[in-house]
Amino acid sequence: MTLAEKTNITAGTGIFMGSRCNGNTGSAPRVGFPQLCLNDAANGVRQADNVTVFPDGITTGATFDKKLMYERAVAIGKEARGKGVNIWLGPTVGPIGRKPKGGRNWEGFGADPVLQAVGARETIKGIQEQGVIATIKHLVGNEQEMYRMYNPFQYAYSANIDDRTMHELYLWPFAEAVHAGVGAVMTAYNAVNGTACSQHPYLVNGLLKDELGFQGLVMTDWLAHMSGVGSALAGTDLDMPGDTQIPLFGNSYWMYELTRSALNGSVPMERLNDMATRIVATWYKMGQDSEDYPRPNFDTNTRNREGPLHPGAWPNSASGVVNEFVPVQADHDVVARQVAQDAITMLKNNDNLLPLSASRSIKVFGTAAQVNPDGPNACPDRNCNKGTLGQGWGSGTVDYEYLDDPIGALKSRASNVTFYNTDSYPSNAQVGADDVAIVFITSDAGENSYTVEGNHGDRDASRLSAWHNGDKLVKDVANKYSNVIVVAQTVGPLTFEQWHDMPSVKTILIAHLPGQEAGDSLANVVFGDASPCGHLPYSITFKEEDMPESVTKLIDYALFNQPQDTYSERLYIDYRWLNKEGIKARYAFGHGLSYTNFSYTDVAIEKVTQLDTLPPPRKPKGPVLDYSQAIPNYTEAVKPAGFSTVWRYIYPWLSESDAKKAAADAESKSYPYPAGYNDDQKPGPRAGGGQGGNPALWDVAYTLSVRVTNTGQTHSGKASVQAYLQFPDGIPYDTPVIQLRDFEKTAELAPGESETVELTLTRKDLSVWDVEIQDWVVPAVDGAYKVWIGAASDDLGTVCNVDALQCESGVSGTV
Ligand code: NOJ
Repeated sequence: MTLAEKTNITAGTGIFMGSRCNGNTGSAPRVGFPQLCLNDAANGVRQADNVTVFPDGITTGATFDKKLMYERAVAIGKEARGKGVNIWLGPTVGPIGRKPKGGRNWEGFGADPVLQAVGARETIKGIQEQGVIATIKHLVGNEQEMYRMYNPFQYAYSANIDDRTMHELYLWPFAEAVHAGVGAVMTAYNAVNGTACSQHPYLVNGLLKDELGFQGLVMTDWLAHMSGVGSALAGTDLDMPGDTQIPLFGNSYWMYELTRSALNGSVPMERLNDMATRIVATWYKMGQDSEDYPRPNFDTNTRNREGPLHPGAWPNSASGVVNEFVPVQADHDVVARQVAQDAITMLKNNDNLLPLSASRSIKVFGTAAQVNPDGPNACPDRNCNKGTLGQGWGSGTVDYEYLDDPIGALKSRASNVTFYNTDSYPSNAQVGADDVAIVFITSDAGENSYTVEGNHGDRDASRLSAWHNGDKLVKDVANKYSNVIVVAQTVGPLTFEQWHDMPSVKTILIAHLPGQEAGDSLANVVFGDASPCGHLPYSITFKEEDMPESVTKLIDYALFNQPQDTYSERLYIDYRWLNKEGIKARYAFGHGLSYTNFSYTDVAIEKVTQLDTLPPPRKPKGPVLDYSQAIPNYTEAVKPAGFSTVWRYIYPWLSESDAKKAAADAESKSYPYPAGYNDDQKPGPRAGGGQGGNPALWDVAYTLSVRVTNTGQTHSGKASVQAYLQFPDGIPYDTPVIQLRDFEKTAELAPGESETVELTLTRKDLSVWDVEIQDWVVPAVDGAYKVWIGAASDDLGTVCNVDALQCESGVSGTV
């Protein structure tokens, strides 16, 4: 590739400059390298026709089912490929869910690094097996929406994260993703420890590329690119969507500026060659050079067949066919429904009110039972909360072809259903003694590109209460009816002490964000075709303040100074905090009931690998590809004669005079590198050595097996087996009381049926990050670790003692 070809493929061509896809890179057609199509969302293909709206990440996390996580991803990957997406902008694992009110927690899998890591790993496998490049995002610390972005007048907040917390919580899912071979990483808008992520050399070059050995491409979040030379040297490889922070003027820090920087020597050619190689190599690795990889065939701005080819060049854009209406859904509704159904989390079910018989008289309350009367896509990027809440809002959303709503599904199954489509208790409601009332409530959140009912992305206005006076509606209904079921479609934890203990509120179901299959998935559980088997991917507290102030208080002010979001709670988020402080959760992380009961027996632990305090030394760095190259002739930077440009589109070329000047500058000027800068190859961090870090970190140290039996008489069901690790007493590191380390879900077990599941603990699972040694340390080799096993973080009736290799059932858990 020529200089201009390389700088053309390392940036987007400008926001809205391609009608297709949420971002498009430049191409190098002379050598057969196409424009790449980059597209959201973490639950499907955003702003496209004929696609499936899969349940969101939080819903997927609530299944605690690796197989379903993978199968959902296979289906999303097929749809993305069918639509011609080269780089899919998911999965989301940052935010991890540190702040319960954080706006985008629902895109990820839940407030725990292992749950996020497993969700990401299974998703990456499923997506990339289809040839689509997955993107793990956002690296890192994007734990709230307000003030996440820099603009010329305002600093984004700085997420101040100490080294150990970074490794053990926030980087953990990224490490797993790199280990799974993820092709792309997106940096976050915000700063980390004072430096913006898109130009953070320690984060990108250091942690991600050196320590985690990431071989793919690093892109900025949209319009988060803030510098030319700085971000290139920091390790960023792809500037998206190509513009400076003030878009649509055809201005970029890269493209023509990167060409200039290479010509004048301020960005070494070897860095540019590395950037371009990372992009091209990832494309080859996924097999996208094959003839049958589809080209993009959908438009993100219109559903018309024809439209502007470069909407950003309005009113000067050429027109053409932009939508080819390629259907890609196949039978993906099946897996979408299964995920939605297996995520439904039953918190309580007094008097076995559920399941209902189809002949029961049912009164349904709440506008969320029915699809938005204006249509499921009435609000762009789902930026309103009207009707059934299937997704949060913002870029992490998909357009519905249909939304199977709960009321439709309930009515098709039961003959005696009355629906009061209101969020205030209706004066004309008929109350029968044997009625069952089902009340639908919601809580929404999203990206701060939109403010919805006063919520700036984060739930800053609604806090953790139900929207639309939902709590009052539940109370009013519960005052009239004696059998009440509450169904919550929610982005995250709610507090519901106002009504939780009212005797008539017998059942609570959390449906999370079910996507397009909100109806039958729920009806199947309500009428007992399936037992609920979802588990909470976060804790529900009695009150918001049960969590530390550092996570309950949102950054809400940012004039002049950079707001500081300091992670002073360190490792102690969600259940780690509650357990440390001895605060009882209303419903603990991992909680979820079934219509049946399960026993966990025949538990055994086996040692697989004898560990040492430290992992075996990493292999020395292999030979480094030789990317060095003399600065090319300035003519490689000049637009070919006769090439006609599109207004405001971003190109890699300089004028001839600028190119000549840059080349002359290379002779006469030198770039002021920081004092001490040199380009000697270092041996590499001791914790590195493979994709994700030292490969020995993934050695299996112990396996555990558990026999799970459905001990009920009447209902089939799937059981969740969760394994939490407790570090030995007396070690010189403060560690959370217990931490999730692995989980499995059984198949559907009939009454009396059993299944044996296997869980594993790796070297990394048994380690802590030692900030002085800068490595993962096993603090007590063969020590008195305990592995607690059960159905929830507060329901752990089995314990295995790692030192004795013995397990015991029927114990009461540690929390
Ligand atoms: C901004 C969001 O933060 C990111 O997640 C998304 O992929 C891009 N916009 C592109 O839409």
